[in-house]
Amino acid sequence: MNKNEITQLVKDCALRHIAFIMDGNGRWATSRLMPREMGHAAGAKTFKKVALYCRSIGIEHCTVYAFSTENWNRPKAEVAAIMKLLDQYLDEGEEHENVSYRFIGDKNGLPTEIAERTRALEAKTAGRDFILNIALNYGGRAEIVNAVNSLIAEGKTSVTDADIASRLYTAGCPDPDLVVRTGNELRISNFLMWQSAYSELYFSDKMWPDFGTEDVDAAVVEFSRRKRRFGGLDKK
Ligand code: FPP
Repeated sequence: MNKNEITQLVKDCALRHIAFIMDGNGRWATSRLMPREMGHAAGAKTFKKVALYCRSIGIEHCTVYAFSTENWNRPKAEVAAIMKLLDQYLDEGEEHENVSYRFIGDKNGLPTEIAERTRALEAKTAGRDFILNIALNYGGRAEIVNAVNSLIAEGKTSVTDADIASRLYTAGCPDPDLVVRTGNELRISNFLMWQSAYSELYFSDKMWPDFGTEDVDAAVVEFSRRKRRFGGLDKK
């Protein structure tokens, strides 16, 4: 399929939000006898390419899992390398026209300067057509716990689905239609636990740095073949 056909397919199958678990950077590097940090650098390039490609085929929201609350347990040098890549990316962020950035996760647990710069980039780019959610210091269960605690703090004694959704980091953003995980691992790893209740899941055995626009196309085609029932029955 060519790009016009994929763009049409995205529209026809109402694929508005795609989320990526960018797994396999480390294995990509070690299999090439390179340090894991080089895998993250290659992964950052793939992230930029894939996010902009999603925008170009008419997807409105893209979410990527860049750093989980558990990733702090990695060796210091690896954490520092990922933070450096983010720092560099924050410099470039503004250059991408029509991209609104949202950093989802606990900003208070980030290095102060990075947290401030994420807030500044969000403010500068608000209201644009394409929403790019970058999950940083993110954990899905913690996100739900925070949401409930903020409702309790307001005096609520019982809550609805809508109440919780309104307090998530992704408030206002449609749930992901499709969650893609690379790296040949078949799990969700605490990513968008609430929001992915009815998402279609797509697993790729490619390591994230090898994931290309043709793989996005394959995921879109697969999504278009799925029958989404949201717990109901097929429409006759
Ligand atoms: C998972 O691969 C990937 C990460 C924990 C970090 C993802 C970071 C990037 C793609 C680069 C920085 C991002 C931005 C937004 C500039 P892994 O290390 O768990 O791979 P493995 O399973 O092979 O070890």
